Amino acid sequence: MLLEGQLPWPSCRVMDCGGKRSATPLWPAATVSIHRLVPPSESAVVASLCRRSPKSPVRPLTPHPLLVAANSALAGVTLQRSTKRMSDAQKFRIGVLGSGKGSNFVAIADAIRAGQVPAEVAIVLSDVENAGILERARERNIPARFIAPGKFRTKLEDEAEAAFVAALRETKVDLVVLAGFMRIIKSGLMNAFPNRIINIHPSLLPSFPGLEAWKQALDHGVKFTGCTVHFVDAGVDSGPIIGQQTVPVLDDDTPETLHQRIHTAEHELYPKCVAAIARGEVEVRGRRVVGKLR
Ligand code: GAR
Repeated sequence: MLLEGQLPWPSCRVMDCGGKRSATPLWPAATVSIHRLVPPSESAVVASLCRRSPKSPVRPLTPHPLLVAANSALAGVTLQRSTKRMSDAQKFRIGVLGSGKGSNFVAIADAIRAGQVPAEVAIVLSDVENAGILERARERNIPARFIAPGKFRTKLEDEAEAAFVAALRETKVDLVVLAGFMRIIKSGLMNAFPNRIINIHPSLLPSFPGLEAWKQALDHGVKFTGCTVHFVDAGVDSGPIIGQQTVPVLDDDTPETLHQRIHTAEHELYPKCVAAIARGEVEVRGRRVVGKLR
């Protein structure tokens, strides 16, 4: 059983309390809240004890009194924790992975500081020892670590992947945010954080997945490109799309000028997507992610 310093309500929000899908809630915070209090095998029972608020067909959900009672008993230890620990624990925690200069991380961190994203960055990890993202994190007093990626160029070696997973678990992150992390995500990370890894890609997916997407767009001659935030699945840049922002391609664009404008769009889009997930305002329905970004 996993008991954490957090009561899951009133923040307990379960994506679907009805049919069979309730056993595998896809909404990240809900998954975390439930699994923190009960073993995964009992999640279905917990979920089925929830009921929808009649005024809101999707959420918020109000916990059933039985559920509150059952979990009050389970959470006896939690209740004894200090107020400060409780309020810290209630924050939505994100772990950021990046290989580059970290401008998207900065955009998210700044939006958090401005009160636009109800979350905290719990840790920043990089596979590049001198990556700017680590420096940007340390400047903000956010724990930052380099983890050696191993011998491969495009993916993490198994031991390295295990070290990433351990660091993210130790810091109890609710969501893994890839911000320019230039390695393929393998099953170890995916299984450790199912449906809880998101990525930003510099094109309007499904167009131009892979490397140098802005250059691919320019070479192809499209008139609009942009950026996409999506959940990570087993494919390359192929998971359910959370948000997209368009960027026009100008006649005199070079790869550099276009990439710069896409970057600006990314810095607007990514914090909005993280905020929507942290607030529980998006829901995954198969390939579609529904909910409003604001
Ligand atoms: C961003 O443009 C992001 O879209 C891209 O790396 C850059 C990171 O910049 N990611 C990918 O291409 C992933 N396929 P940053 O380090 O300044 O945030």
